[in-house]
Amino acid sequence: MWLKTLLLSVLVIASYPLSSSCFRIHAEDRDALDHPVLGTSLRKYKDSHHLKTNGVPSSRMMMKTHEDQDNRYDSSVRSSLLPSHALLIHASTSRNVVNVNDYLNGRDGEVDMNEAFNEAWELACKLEGGVFEVPSGQIYRVKPITFSGPCTPNLTIRILGQIRASVDASDYKDDPREWLVFQNLDSFTVDGGGIINGNGQKWWKKSCKIDKTQPCKGAPTALTFNDCKNFMVSNLNLKNAQQMHVRIQRCKNVQVKNLQVIAPGNSPNTDGIHVTGSQNILISDSVIRTGDDCISIVSGSSHVEATNIVCGPGHGISIGSLGKDNGKDYVSDVFVHGAKLSGTTNGLRIKTWQGGSGYAKNIIFEDIAMNNVTNPIIIDQNYCDKEGPCPKQKSAVQVSNVTYRDIKGTSASKVAMKFDCSKTHPCEGIVLQDIDLRSQSGEVAKASCLNVRFQNKGQVSPSCP
Ligand SMILES: *[C@@H]1O[C@H](CO)[C@@H](O)[C@H](O)[C@H]1NC(C)=O
Ligand SMILES: *[C@@H]1O[C@H](CO)[C@@H](O)[C@H](O)[C@H]1NC(C)=O
Ligand SMILES: *[C@@H]1O[C@H](CO)[C@@H](O)[C@H](O)[C@H]1NC(C)=O
Repeated sequence: MWLKTLLLSVLVIASYPLSSSCFRIHAEDRDALDHPVLGTSLRKYKDSHHLKTNGVPSSRMMMKTHEDQDNRYDSSVRSSLLPSHALLIHASTSRNVVNVNDYLNGRDGEVDMNEAFNEAWELACKLEGGVFEVPSGQIYRVKPITFSGPCTPNLTIRILGQIRASVDASDYKDDPREWLVFQNLDSFTVDGGGIINGNGQKWWKKSCKIDKTQPCKGAPTALTFNDCKNFMVSNLNLKNAQQMHVRIQRCKNVQVKNLQVIAPGNSPNTDGIHVTGSQNILISDSVIRTGDDCISIVSGSSHVEATNIVCGPGHGISIGSLGKDNGKDYVSDVFVHGAKLSGTTNGLRIKTWQGGSGYAKNIIFEDIAMNNVTNPIIIDQNYCDKEGPCPKQKSAVQVSNVTYRDIKGTSASKVAMKFDCSKTHPCEGIVLQDIDLRSQSGEVAKASCLNVRFQNKGQVSPSCP
């Protein structure tokens, strides 16, 4: 399906000038395919996943234009590059590389790169096979910035150097929740091996989780993708985000791979990769060591796969929280396989608030190694992460069809498996297969099981009574 859509979009692009009706058909095709609530079948999931892993442009294909940094745009070339001319440039020349250094106009990148980034973006966005390049060996100080599309497809954002966030809170006054934002883009790659540094220490100190005298308000997410599709983010180092590191929001057909995400274990709310309202997401081959969830998957997300992930410190891999403030939330078709969690407060967690509705279903956790994890397996339907108590409520997000298969390792706490499910909406269809969790201290590990309908297969230890 994905490939079909890609071909369709390539055809649409090839038949330039674009007709708006072509775009409309294209958009409807996608939406029908991936509508989260209509509930795509697993068959579609497998189809789309298969095509997705083969269909997303590989970084190898996208690397072709990186050559000869000296062959930069001079101002005469630049001024002749009206959009229609830009489209004529062949995809594999170094002329497509738009180097932000060429837009400094005497400004010092250590002070503020935003204008240079904006100018370079405007040009790269219009080029066919354009490359927006942040060169290596330098640090670029950047205030909040939004890179908006639509752009010509196959744009590459190549970050070789270090992008470092401004620490001046007044720079964030327009939108205190975002730093680097990519939005409304289709078919692009972000890569380069560089560093995205949220410089978050100042924000952490002001967090109400650290300083109880401070009001609880959010800090910026380092890297946000809003309403984007058909893209890959790979080979990047993210560190010390102000709050979350990567947020994928209302996106489709996304590959995230080879990321290194690092922040101190005590940095507040510094989730690694947060997926919200998004479908067909593959996260792979990444190391995430932060102060909050390694990966968090929340409402409106479906067909999310995570594989070969190393986590810890942090709060583990989480679905939720769901159902906050009596919200109606849906997450389905999540497949987490091949993960190593070490020293995290949770391992595989599903967390929902009392009073919510909706569901978390069709979830598989497979082939997971735990090392000294405090709650290796946990479903918490009484999640409460706010000031003041969370009163008892009848409604709940329904948790069903969750398989834990081949989960091994050690628990830092005695209770290695905990199902704290709702009395009115018990957890259903929980399958435990080949579980071997021991307590780190050598004590026998226990299972705590409330309102859970489960089935054991193979060797399951500990086990619900
Ligand atoms: C985008 O890249 C893919 C893969 O390299 C290629 O098949 C396609 O033709 C490109 N599309 C455009 C519009 O350049
Ligand atoms: C349970 O989920 C799995 C995969 O997530 C899916 O293959 C299966 O069809 C689901 N079972 C039911 C009864 O929905
Ligand atoms: C295991 O985790 C606990 C709780 O996080 C910690 O106190 C302890 O030092 C850890 N033990 C080892 C051997 O890492």
